[in-house]
Amino acid sequence: MSLTPPIRPFDASPLLDRVVLVTGGAQGIGRGIAQAVLGAGGRVVIGDLDRAAGRACLVEWDVGDRARFLTLDVSREASVRAFVGKAQAAFGRIDGLVNNAGPADPAIDDVSALALADWRRFIDAHLTGTFLCSKHALPALRDAHGAIVNIASSRALQSEPHTEAYASAKGGVVGFTHALAISEGPRVRVNAISPGWIVTDDWRKPTARRAPALSKRDHVQHPAGRAGVPDDIGALAVHLLSDASAFMTGQNIVVDGGMSRVMHYV
Ligand SMILES: NC(=O)c1ccc[n+]([C@@H]2O[C@H](COP(=O)([O-])OP(=O)(O)OC[C@H]3O[C@@H](n4cnc5c(N)ncnc54)[C@H](O)[C@@H]3O)[C@@H](O)[C@H]2O)c1
Repeated sequence: MSLTPPIRPFDASPLLDRVVLVTGGAQGIGRGIAQAVLGAGGRVVIGDLDRAAGRACLVEWDVGDRARFLTLDVSREASVRAFVGKAQAAFGRIDGLVNNAGPADPAIDDVSALALADWRRFIDAHLTGTFLCSKHALPALRDAHGAIVNIASSRALQSEPHTEAYASAKGGVVGFTHALAISEGPRVRVNAISPGWIVTDDWRKPTARRAPALSKRDHVQHPAGRAGVPDDIGALAVHLLSDASAFMTGQNIVVDGGMSRVMHYV
């Protein structure tokens, strides 16, 4: 028997026939992840509050029964239970779950004026939603030896003023990620992606879609030379959902063009 390590060809379809659920998958980063899953050979179920956006994806993708859209509110357990049940009934298995849904605009009121309802809006969608979707998908994910990818944020690790609710929700997502990875290993791997500034204006439903209007300064402040696009997150999500990352679990990977590594002196 030869002990020579082989040169392995790169797998061009690392998610061939895998079934991946993407919450908030009808627009923005979630849509980018869903399209990356399709590009990697997978099948996708997008769940989203916005029906028009979900239906537009199916029309524009035109991939037949490789993609489904289901209405979903990740903050309501009955809605999550129905979403996971219908997805499993449609495809017979679940290999991956991407917890992405939730309000993306982080700035609200000063904490001394912050309404409890506004606080809960962020916690319920991002943190409780990640818990609920994981809870209901886990039995199928265990059967498939699947993977979860949670979309956190660089704001779990650094802040602008008046973003406490968002930062707390995303910090919670990072903690949930490593705790669940320890509970579910070796059956299910769980990792998080923390995006920085990802431009999504041209990834919305057709009626809301517009060309991004960023300044040169917006881009060049990033060590990578530009702000991010949904494809940047989709590529890493595919890696974390595929067997190529079989030795990774419990991690939070920052994808921010290097912004959080810049040292500032005035
Ligand atoms: N865009 C960024 O710069 C950025 C940076 C870091 C993290 N993120 C995170 O990435 C994720 C996606 O952000 P985005 O910028 O693409 O946002 P987006 O607003 O473009 O898209 C979010 C999608 O989620 C859906 N959604 C919202 N609440 C929902 C709910 N309760 N149940 C089901 N669907 C719901 C919306 O209808 C929408 O289609 C969010 O978790 C956000 O916090 C975004």
